[in-house]
Amino acid sequence: MCGIFAYTGEKDAEPLLLEGLSLLEYRGYDSAGIFMPGKNLVKTSGAVTELRAKISKSGIEASAPSHSGIAHLRWATHGEPTEKNAHPHVDCTGDVYVAHNGIIENFRELKEALLKRGHTFKSETDTETLAHLIEEGLTVGKSFEESVVETLRQVRGTYGLLISYAKEPDTIITARMGSPVVLGIGNGENFIASDATPILKHTKDVVFLNDGDIAIVTANSYRVRTLKDESIERPKETLDWDVSEASRGGYPHFMLKEIFEAPEVLRNAMRGRVIASEGKAKLGGLESVAKRLEKIDRIIIVGCGTAYYAGLLGEYLIENLAGVPVEVELASEFRYRDAVIGKNTAVLAVSQSGETLDTLEAMREAKRKGALSLGIVNAVGSTIARETDAGVYNHAGPEISVASTKAFLSQVTVLALLGLFLGRSRKLSEKKGIELVEALEKLPELAEKVLAESDAIKAIATKYRTARDFLYIGRKWSYPMALEGAIKLKEISYVHAEGTGAGEMKHGPIAMIDESFPTLAIAPKDSVYEKTVSNILEIRARKGPVIAIATEGDTRIEELAEDLIYIPDVLECLSPVLSAIALQLFAYHLAAGKGLNVDKPRNLAKSVTVE
Ligand code: AGP
Repeated sequence: MCGIFAYTGEKDAEPLLLEGLSLLEYRGYDSAGIFMPGKNLVKTSGAVTELRAKISKSGIEASAPSHSGIAHLRWATHGEPTEKNAHPHVDCTGDVYVAHNGIIENFRELKEALLKRGHTFKSETDTETLAHLIEEGLTVGKSFEESVVETLRQVRGTYGLLISYAKEPDTIITARMGSPVVLGIGNGENFIASDATPILKHTKDVVFLNDGDIAIVTANSYRVRTLKDESIERPKETLDWDVSEASRGGYPHFMLKEIFEAPEVLRNAMRGRVIASEGKAKLGGLESVAKRLEKIDRIIIVGCGTAYYAGLLGEYLIENLAGVPVEVELASEFRYRDAVIGKNTAVLAVSQSGETLDTLEAMREAKRKGALSLGIVNAVGSTIARETDAGVYNHAGPEISVASTKAFLSQVTVLALLGLFLGRSRKLSEKKGIELVEALEKLPELAEKVLAESDAIKAIATKYRTARDFLYIGRKWSYPMALEGAIKLKEISYVHAEGTGAGEMKHGPIAMIDESFPTLAIAPKDSVYEKTVSNILEIRARKGPVIAIATEGDTRIEELAEDLIYIPDVLECLSPVLSAIALQLFAYHLAAGKGLNVDKPRNLAKSVTVE
């Protein structure tokens, strides 16, 4: 996944473009580049810092300011992350510049034909073929717009594109197919980006493009059309985010900031969605499919990574509250296994970014088979959000850190609301509904109490910072948390961590336990507490250190575990929300204590929009 950002207006484009890229660095950061008409192209391996240094060395700042330009941050898919492969890419004439987020699937055949027609290539990327194809249109006298359209008609694959033509410096053409593109509509200036975050400082008026859209953008105008020569209207929306949400706000890392946003995130997930007196949930985004939902007799939840683990909790929550059978599938498996979908099956895509390709394609496969497609998505206007039949936004605000923290809490909360929503129109009593609503409404203040343990958790993380392996165990509601806790640790600290059902320990994992192999046992006072305690005893008998996440006031577990992280007592099905915060803080402090780049872990990107 890459970051694209463009400007056209009256101001000096350079500082705006560089600032915009820096707000997009979570989307990809192994190489970067910028082109402004009237100045030389500047590209570098590395991220914005390296690009700034390269620009000052290139001397282009000495020339007159340019009032438009395109910029790009790369997460390599085709070709190594090198300066040569950094975007924008240029044609043979040096007039056409292309920055691209996505994958051109038929680029090899296009490139072979271009090479046969005498074009010379400077990079190994798929993107460069687009620059040469546009060049060919211009060479035979087509307009800039027609040359772009003609090119895109030859292309198969995904793209979020920015195209600049040196001979029409005020115009930028952008196009969207499978990778997000949003326009920022200013006063005498316009912006184009992969998402709204770098636009918000300049304008809150945005236009989300759909797949197949092409937009011709100048300082004072934008026009949207399709590949089929249709002119279309895309509505302008006003976002209520401000850029401070996307800035670190004084925390050392976005991840810690986002963990500490938990109370507000939980409130936002529930805001306007509970009827406390009746113990009901009100999910406006599902109203349009309310009739179909009444007939639903099976739900398949699809997601990737942390979103998948939220889905596992969704299975327990919805079955427990609504009595509807739920299965949870890895999106990357579901999309290929020719699943059986009944006429009353709903497929629910859980995705923070709303752009994860495997989850998007799993949802599209479900739609093709006639399922009711639903989404729980954070990114407003994202592809999954726009392609599902209905859904619920998380309203968690932008999640910048690659590791998902606040989004996970929001996903679990919305899944609990969905269970309540479905349950109260099925078998769930008003009394049970009111009990759940009251517990949900207490969550933000309980989350504050877990956050207050941050320093104590940091001390424990420091104690175990040299451990090479961790086992995470949990039962029932805490089983998905064992999996989620493990991924949180490994993705930001690069330390091996394995999550498993506590009941599974005897079937293999316990063989690994010795004094150098700590276990994180998620053991709140719940209906399976005694079982989990016996697992802890088995580990201690083999001298394995145990860090227990326990319920406040549980003195018994103090004798068993070496270290304790306490969480407040809460309705059993909501304990994952609190243990998640503890697990996120443990992972964060252990990784930050190693001096690692917590927000941008190696090899990872925030949203995986490629296979
Ligand atoms: C979570 O910490 C990971 N960064 C990753 O597993 C992520 O949850 C997964 O890629 C799904 O992303 P999505 O929610 O944007 O679809």
